[in-house]
Order: sequence, then C-alpha cells, then structure tokens
Amino acid sequence: MAKQHSSSSSALHLCSITTLVFLALLITSSGASTQSLSYDYYNSSCPKVEQIIHNVVSQKLLEASTTAAGALRLFFHDCFVEGCDASVLVASNETHKAERDAEINLSLPGDGFDVFFRAKRALELQCPGVVSCADVMAIATRDLVYLVGGPRWEVQKGRRDGLISEASRVAGNIPEVNQTVPQLISLFKSKGLTALDMVALSGGHTIGFAHCKEFMPRIYAYNKTFDIDPTMDQSYAESLRSPCPEKNFDPTVVAFNDVTTPYTFDNAYYQNLQKGLGLLATDQKLYADPQTRSYVSLMAKDQQGFFDHFVSAMIKLGNIGVKTGNDGEIRRDCGFFNA
Ligand code: HEM
Ligand SMILES: *[C@@H]1O[C@H](CO)[C@@H](O)[C@H](O)[C@H]1NC(C)=O
Ligand SMILES: *[C@@H]1O[C@H](CO)[C@@H](O)[C@H](O)[C@H]1NC(C)=O
Ligand SMILES: *[C@@H]1O[C@H](CO)[C@@H](O)[C@H](O)[C@H]1NC(C)=O
Ligand SMILES: *[C@@H]1O[C@H](CO)[C@@H](O)[C@H](O)[C@H]1NC(C)=O
Ligand SMILES: *[C@@H]1O[C@H](CO)[C@@H](O)[C@H](O)[C@H]1NC(C)=O
Repeated sequence: MAKQHSSSSSALHLCSITTLVFLALLITSSGASTQSLSYDYYNSSCPKVEQIIHNVVSQKLLEASTTAAGALRLFFHDCFVEGCDASVLVASNETHKAERDAEINLSLPGDGFDVFFRAKRALELQCPGVVSCADVMAIATRDLVYLVGGPRWEVQKGRRDGLISEASRVAGNIPEVNQTVPQLISLFKSKGLTALDMVALSGGHTIGFAHCKEFMPRIYAYNKTFDIDPTMDQSYAESLRSPCPEKNFDPTVVAFNDVTTPYTFDNAYYQNLQKGLGLLATDQKLYADPQTRSYVSLMAKDQQGFFDHFVSAMIKLGNIGVKTGNDGEIRRDCGFFNA
C-alpha cells in the first residue's frame, strides 16, 4: 500500500499487477466454490459415505454426549486456520508443533477429534483413500448438530486435505473472549462472513462448555467499580464462583455455555443473553453492542429464523479456503500427512 505512493510510474505498474491479482482471485474463488464442491461428489467412488459417517457419529454420541459440541468447535477452528482442510487434526511430531497444539488451542475437545478419526477409519474399510478428512469433518459436524436438536442441511463435498499445520499460524485467526465486537466482526469479515453470520454461528454456544479461566475475569475483581460484570445476572455469576474459586481453581472444571438447555441445540442461548445469562464476555457483548444486538433479538424470538441463518452461515463457513483439484491430498489417516 505505502509503495503505491512512492512514485507515479511504480504506482502504474502496481496498478496492472493489482488487476491481474484481482482476476486471478476471481478465477480461483469461482473455481473453488462452484465448480469443484458438489453434492454428488462421492456418488460413484463412495456412495454410502453419508450413511457410514452417520452410523459412527450416532454411536459416538451415545457414548459421549459432549461429542457434538467438541466436533462443532473443532470444525470452526479448522475452517478459520488455513481453510476447511482438516489441518487441525494433524498431530505434532518431535520437531514440529502442529496447529492443534498452539497455545491458543484452549484445550480442544478430545471427543471431537475422536469422532472424526473413527468416521475416517470406518470409511477407509469401505472406500480406501477416497474421502477427505475435511469432508468427514463437514459431514460429521452436520450430523451431530442435527442429532442434538439442530437443523439439518445438505453438505457439498470435494474438499481436499491440507499439507500445512503450523501452531504458529493459529494466533490471530481464532477469536478470544477478551475481544471487542468490532474486533470480532473484522475477524469474521476477513474470512468472508458477515456480522449476521457471526451472531448466527455464535449460536453454536447453545451446546458445550467453557473452562473457568475463560469467564473468571467477569466474576472476580471485574473492574475498579464492579466486583462482578454488571451486564451479568448477579446470582448466575455467584453460582459460578463455587466451581471456579478465585484461588487455586481446578483448570479442568467447566461450565455450560448455555445454562438453561446445555445439551440441546436451540435458541435458548440468545434468550439467555437478553437476561444477562451469557457465559463468555464475548457472548454477552453481542447483546450489548448496537451492531449485533438486533440480530440477537431476532434469533431469540424465532428459533426457525435462527436455524435458517445458522445453516446458511455453516455452509459459508464450510467453504472457507477449501482446496480442490490437485491441491492438498486425501489423507489416509487424519492425524498424519501421507508419507
Ligand atoms: C464469536 C467468537 C467466539 C469466541 C470468542 C469463542 C470462544 C470460545 C471459548 C473460549 C470456548 C470455551 C473453550 C474451553 O474453555 O474449552 C468456546 C467453546 C465452544 N465454541 Fe466458541 N467462540 C466463538 C465462536 C464460535 C463459533 C463461530 C462456533 C461454531 C459455530 C463456536 C463453537 C463452540 C462450541 C461448540 C464450544 C464448546 C466446545 C466444547 O464443549 O467442547 N464458537 N468458544
Ligand atoms: C447422487 O446420489 C444421490 C443420493 O443417492 C441422488 O439423489 C443423486 O441424484 C445422485 N446424483 C448423480 C449425479 O448421480
Ligand atoms: C514433522 O512434521 C513436519 C511437517 O509437519 C515434517 O516436515 C517433518 O518431516 C516431521 N518430522 C519427523 C521427524 O517426522
Ligand atoms: C491441544 O489439544 C490437544 C487435544 O485435546 C491436547 O492433547 C494438547 O495437549 C493441547 N495442547 C496444548 C498446548 O494445550
Ligand atoms: C487477549 O488475551 C490474549 C492472551 O490471552 C492477549 O494476547 C491479547 O493481547 C488480548 N487481547 C486484547 C484485545 O486484549
Ligand atoms: C466497569 O465496567 C462497567 C461495565 O462494563 C463500565 O460501565 C464502567 O465504566 C467500568 N468502570 C471502570 C472504572 O472501568
């Protein structure tokens, strides 16, 4: 940018480069989102892909009810770092720290990893080397959301697995609880998602948990004037103090993200925000900020409306940075790049 002002001749030169880059982007993005992903991608190569994944996923959910939330969060993190390419599933090795082990990892949920690994192993028995881990993540997450009460949608397939998984490339791509709504909006915008998409996707917090450290700044020594965040229901805040004591708290203890219906995918999360019952500071701020408040109200009063917006945002999320054609690979084991 700064260079464009250095001299008029170089500005002209940069201008033509910019046009070329722009054209290249147009070609790439239309190729990625419309040509290559399709509903019938595995029709001949693995016709039972959806059924095989569904069987594994429903069995896993019976064993561990936390699976749905774990998978949804992992899918979100995967798509926000390097695009939806299953890079989050790759393990670190002795010399190399992978994406899933970034400091900001925030204890990514083991059951989420497990359900994707299991679904992929089941697929390898029937159609070896065919279905990408990235598609497994998209399909399994869709199934889990539906199985815990949420909407269902058709998943477009044909994503390929990424060849990069770097812990150092995570920071800045994943939202954090201390961010402001304008910061969150700009992060989501950088991934092609609108503020409405962001509010709808945050409805993912209608299931699952957060560890004490994520909300403790709200319930102890909040600021100079208030001990407890004044936007938080005061008795709700007090009820969180005993599982999360100020000193020597247990780092493994968690609280429900949706305190009213923690295991059901519904719009109670938004109704909670209207009552000061949001757990994370960022959740509650969606209702405080004028840029997002009306969206929260919309979702709170209309569950079908929430579901419709959630589905459209999940489809956009699932298209972020997808690799197709000869990009990437079809990993044999989701935890490792092919040798
Ligand atoms: C808007 C910004 C967001 C922030 C700041 C945020 C932050 C967090 C934090 C701090 C946790 C708790 C992690 C832990 O302590 O283990 C969490 C959990 C979770 N997040 Fe988000 N998140 C955001 C958006 C999203 C989106 C867009 C989705 C998916 C569509 C999502 C899905 C989840 C789920 C399902 C859990 C529960 C995970 C579990 O129980 O294992 N979040 N989030
Ligand atoms: C692919 O399979 C689905 C489900 O069996 C079917 O509805 C669809 O028509 C098939 N598409 C093609 C191109 O064969
Ligand atoms: C560790 O992983 C990196 C890439 O993720 C790879 O380049 C390197 O060869 C691996 N090292 C070992 C010892 O396997
Ligand atoms: C990241 O998450 C994985 C899976 O839960 C865990 O095994 C690993 O220890 C975590 N890494 C860090 C640095 O928190
Ligand atoms: C949020 O917290 C992280 C560490 O947890 C810190 O690196 C970052 O600077 C903080 N961001 C803001 C906006 O305060
Ligand atoms: C404390 O937080 C409240 C609510 O966020 C805010 O209105 C107030 O100005 C803050 N006070 C100080 C001293 O920072």
